[in-house]
Amino acid sequence: MREDAAPPGSAPRAPGHLPLLGHLLPLLTRPVPFLQSLADHGPVVRIHLWRRPVHVLTDPGLVHRLLVQDAARTEKGFVFDQARGLLGNGLFISEGAFHLRQRRLVQPAFHRDGIRRYAALAARLAAAAVSRWETGRPAPIEPRMHGLARDIVVEALFATRLTPAQKARIDRAVPVVLTGFVQRALYPSPLLEKLPVPANRHFDAAVRDLRTTVDEIVDQAAAPQQGPDGTLLSLLLTTRDEETGLAMPPAQVRDEAVSLLLAGTETTATTLAWLFHELARHQDLQDELSEEVRAVAPDGAVSPDDLPLLERTGHAISETLRLHTPNWILMRRATEPLRYGGVVLPPGAEILFSPTALHRSPLLHPDPSRFDPDRWRQSAGHAPPRLFIPFGAGRHKCVGESFAWTEMLVVTAAVLARLRLSPATATPLRESATAATVRPRGPLLVAEPR
Ligand code: HEM
Repeated sequence: MREDAAPPGSAPRAPGHLPLLGHLLPLLTRPVPFLQSLADHGPVVRIHLWRRPVHVLTDPGLVHRLLVQDAARTEKGFVFDQARGLLGNGLFISEGAFHLRQRRLVQPAFHRDGIRRYAALAARLAAAAVSRWETGRPAPIEPRMHGLARDIVVEALFATRLTPAQKARIDRAVPVVLTGFVQRALYPSPLLEKLPVPANRHFDAAVRDLRTTVDEIVDQAAAPQQGPDGTLLSLLLTTRDEETGLAMPPAQVRDEAVSLLLAGTETTATTLAWLFHELARHQDLQDELSEEVRAVAPDGAVSPDDLPLLERTGHAISETLRLHTPNWILMRRATEPLRYGGVVLPPGAEILFSPTALHRSPLLHPDPSRFDPDRWRQSAGHAPPRLFIPFGAGRHKCVGESFAWTEMLVVTAAVLARLRLSPATATPLRESATAATVRPRGPLLVAEPR
């Protein structure tokens, strides 16, 4: 039998398996190309992380079924088992009936009126940030986007301002926590988490810092003089559970705040950083978007009503979400038997798929590695893609999707109305997927006034 052949009813094993390590090396060293390559071996392919088998779905139809039709037959999977103990049981981590209840409580903060308020706030914060950018000097775009995304989420959802010390702690902690909780799930034994090595000490300190800062934010925002004001936090603090009539326990409010900070900053910041790298490489497109923005709002301060007018800017953001989808892996675990492409997955089977790899499939998009916002024109010859899931799908679909869209449009408009971005060097644009998202590693960018 060939190495990757499998008995009927079970998935073929991916090539490149090593004794003990399984497929860990390709997954750690070239994650997205490795996951893309699995589509050549079938719709369901087995990889091994140490000795743990994980089933990778490579077929868009099966991924959709897993997320939508089979949502009630799955839970979030092994990466989240360990995270729950450390990061709490917020929306991003919880599952089952508890998740559905929390989702009903959190969702109203992302309804239309809330989003309109957040848009105005994001426009103010983006304008202030852009006016502080030094022009004419090469600078990295990533930290600028991370700082802005952090301030927008915290001010919009918690109506509070961070002190410089709190900002610094969040900036240090969020990437370490996001990277660490994925990496820890790949340890061969949980005992390794206890070893006093720098990686563990670093991670434990980051979790502590994040939780302490969130505690401070919640206390600041919950102080009596702040009063209920329609922010997410005030909703969480005042809403009562329909069944029990009880208010959400303070510890759960904090878990939700941790979840929103983790899920809502790195993703948006990374997408914006990729977008600006792409626009710096495509000057004509950058000019076109800048004109679109200035026709709507000459100073770049777009209002919520202007957002639908930014059509080409929207296409460029969609294309960034396709080609540089931030969440390069998502996971689930079967709680009931599932049958995919003739393969039977028993309860307990770990399942993984890569939105990034799927969005780069030539079966879904011609010339998939080309950055081409024209794909998103709703005209003859541009059919909507069969699967586009940067925000996931089904019951765990991103609760912050409209928030993220609003934020990305507003920030892009604020930058492009005032500045022209160009690469400082010919350094190629590369990606690194060691963290929870695929981050850009590209040249510094130079901003010049327009
Ligand atoms: C470009 C920006 C964003 C992207 C690409 C993104 C992507 C995603 C994806 C793929 C999921 C589903 C995870 C899964 O199925 O396991 C998700 C869930 C989630 N996202 Fe986002 N997200 C973004 C922005 C945001 C923002 C701005 C917030 C909040 C302010 C947020 C909060 C959440 C939360 C709380 C969940 C968990 C939802 C649940 O399980 O019910 N995200 N996001």
